[in-house]
Amino acid sequence: MIGRRVLTSSLIFIFVFGIFAAFSSDVAYYSPPPPTWLKGSTKDRVYQLGLIQPSYADFMLWTGIRLNELYVGGSRGQWEYAKHEALKIKENLQKAALVDTSRRHAIEGLISANYPGLIKAIDSHDPDKFQAAFGRLYASCVTCHTKKGVHFIPLIPTTSISPITSGSMELWEEVQRHIREEAQK
Ligand code: HEC
Repeated sequence: MIGRRVLTSSLIFIFVFGIFAAFSSDVAYYSPPPPTWLKGSTKDRVYQLGLIQPSYADFMLWTGIRLNELYVGGSRGQWEYAKHEALKIKENLQKAALVDTSRRHAIEGLISANYPGLIKAIDSHDPDKFQAAFGRLYASCVTCHTKKGVHFIPLIPTTSISPITSGSMELWEEVQRHIREEAQK
């Protein structure tokens, strides 16, 4: 009986120590000094960290940027990228719902009405299906803004801010030319 208890305790010890060792080796290479403003008890620190978490509007801003990228990616046939953006929009909206639970219902409504139809349209690689699915998602964003008295709405993007969808391969050739010239010096 005692033997079994000792064995169990040893196994628990090895397990806990193993987890601790795994974590400490993970963070060992990243150890900047703690922020000077983070002071007090654990409760105080958690409170202070809470104060600097992204707000509902911050998550919305990311959602807006990703809506932009979703449209540009899908319109140019960059399907993997469009899918990535679609999933990140969902993730951002879910985080927004966590920050402001009074809007969870509307956000869950948007997600269930548009996903997985949007994902299916992207996976079909069919531009018409994509445009229609995007249009439905866009209409859901606008509906919520109108209902919640937000007096601005996202627009259909005409430009992109991401290096994935905007930019030039010619410039990469130009950069390579500089690398070659430097190497020859
Ligand atoms: C639950 C309702 C709701 C849904 C759904 C919703 N929004 Fe919003 N959105 C809001 C509210 C409310 C604000 C204003 C937040 C504030 O002022 O704190 C906002 C703000 C924004 C902003 C401005 C953020 C800033 O501070 O610059 C953008 C951009 C935005 N939403 C984009 C979108 C997009 C894109 C979608 C659809 C994918 C969407 N929203 C879906 C309610 C919603």
